[in-house]
Amino acid sequence: MNRILEAPVMINLEITEACNLTCRHCYNFWRQDDGPKPVGLTEERISTLIDMMVEAKVFHVVLSGGEPFANYKILKYALGRLTAEGISTSVNSNLMPITAAKIRELKALGLDHVLTSLNSAKAEVNDYMVNREGALQEIIKGIKTTIAEGVRVSVNMIISDANRDDIYETARLCAELGVQKLFATRLVPSIRDLVFSETDRKLGQEAALAALDEMVRARDDFGLAIGTLISYPLCLLGDLEKYKDFVGRGCPAQRGNRMVINATGATHACTHEEASYGDVFEIGIKQAFRKMAAWHNGTYLFEDCKQCRYVNVCNSGCASASQAYFADRKAKDPLFKGFEAITTDFKLEIPPEVAAAVTGGENFVVPPSIRFREENGFYSLNVRWANTFSVYHEVGRFLIDQQKQGTAFNVSQMVGEDPRQNLVNLVYKEAVVPEKAQLKALFAGGVKLGCSIDPDDLVAAGEGS
Ligand SMILES: C[S@@+](CC[C@H](N)C(=O)[O-])C[C@H]1O[C@@H](n2cnc3c(N)ncnc32)[C@H](O)[C@@H]1O
Ligand code: SF4
Ligand code: SF4
Repeated sequence: MNRILEAPVMINLEITEACNLTCRHCYNFWRQDDGPKPVGLTEERISTLIDMMVEAKVFHVVLSGGEPFANYKILKYALGRLTAEGISTSVNSNLMPITAAKIRELKALGLDHVLTSLNSAKAEVNDYMVNREGALQEIIKGIKTTIAEGVRVSVNMIISDANRDDIYETARLCAELGVQKLFATRLVPSIRDLVFSETDRKLGQEAALAALDEMVRARDDFGLAIGTLISYPLCLLGDLEKYKDFVGRGCPAQRGNRMVINATGATHACTHEEASYGDVFEIGIKQAFRKMAAWHNGTYLFEDCKQCRYVNVCNSGCASASQAYFADRKAKDPLFKGFEAITTDFKLEIPPEVAAAVTGGENFVVPPSIRFREENGFYSLNVRWANTFSVYHEVGRFLIDQQKQGTAFNVSQMVGEDPRQNLVNLVYKEAVVPEKAQLKALFAGGVKLGCSIDPDDLVAAGEGS
């Protein structure tokens, strides 16, 4: 299927350049001490931007920065308006400048999840990385306050030589705090960071794999959900069963799902990218997105990856890491090992109950929360937040009709070339749910792993092997 989208399905919107921290690893290269005063979006500009997002039918917006709480009035305004427009949101914050009252206020406007940054349970390591003494204690306080107000918190831990030995204890702390998920995200050096290879901001193959081992151990010991926000090449993982929590995200910029908008209006495909594709206020979302075509059409795939059966899932790892390490986005990911290093394949864990319910002719419905966007010859289907995948036009139309009419259907009515498999995939991705309350309860929340994988990508991957 040609999956080139006309507009991003999710936008990472930096509402301010201002930040209370100056993390040593931060990709926001514009934050220099002697630089110009940081820019923040005004109510007028964000209102124009939200109009553009509604028009482009964007599903999800991550409100980020800088530190978004440094532009609290605009954060509040943006959350309220996006929620009212049916666009889901999440906030990236270090949670240091918050109060219970602010979280309560934002929750009433639709805030339900915050991704925060906590880099080590050891104060000296965390505070060194974020360049502020006492930061860890403030972050912990912020996490406790946010969770106490009923807002989910996930933690992003940026892994490098500086903190790679602290993973297990940081995971223990996260579990004790009631954090929903811990991401062990590899540090991708800022392109302005010319000396990183002589510092502890680098991460080699062995260290990266050892870090993931610690994550798996922590998941098993503490029952914590784990993942990463920037992909590790699947050939680094090798055993895709053991490291299944790290399979599936790929590169959102190369998948053509995401766009980044800075507080100045500058547009990027990746948060780490310096060059802008134009001012969104001048050229609009769709035109800026079209100018990112090189990201979307495979230009930045590493040559050796083109024969890999996982290329559609992995996207060659991280092109910005290639740029940072080798000054070339088309170069190999520094953690690349080559597809021969994949020793155990990834298996989609379709629970037997799902397959049995489909084959047994159970009825399914399309929940009202499922969102659709018509693309050029297919539909984007959004399950929740940024979780979006493509379906054939015929399947999209069928599902929209069922949703509009509020009708239930079974496999005999399902459309497409392989109706049974189509329906199994849709149930697996939670795009359709069983009509029977008893079955619904059985499936609810059960299908978590691999939910960021489009089953079609794995089928294609299998065929290429
Ligand atoms: C730029 S921050 C802005 C939001 C907020 N100030 C915070 O620190 O959470 C957004 C996310 O990017 C992550 N990040 C920053 N620099 C990074 C880097 N060089 N590599 C990978 N992730 C990075 C941060 O940990 C954070 O989760
Ligand atoms: S060979 Fe390339 S596409 Fe395949 S797993 Fe490795 S980095 Fe990913
Ligand atoms: S190049 Fe892709 S994987 Fe790497 S940071 Fe950017 S969006 Fe993420």
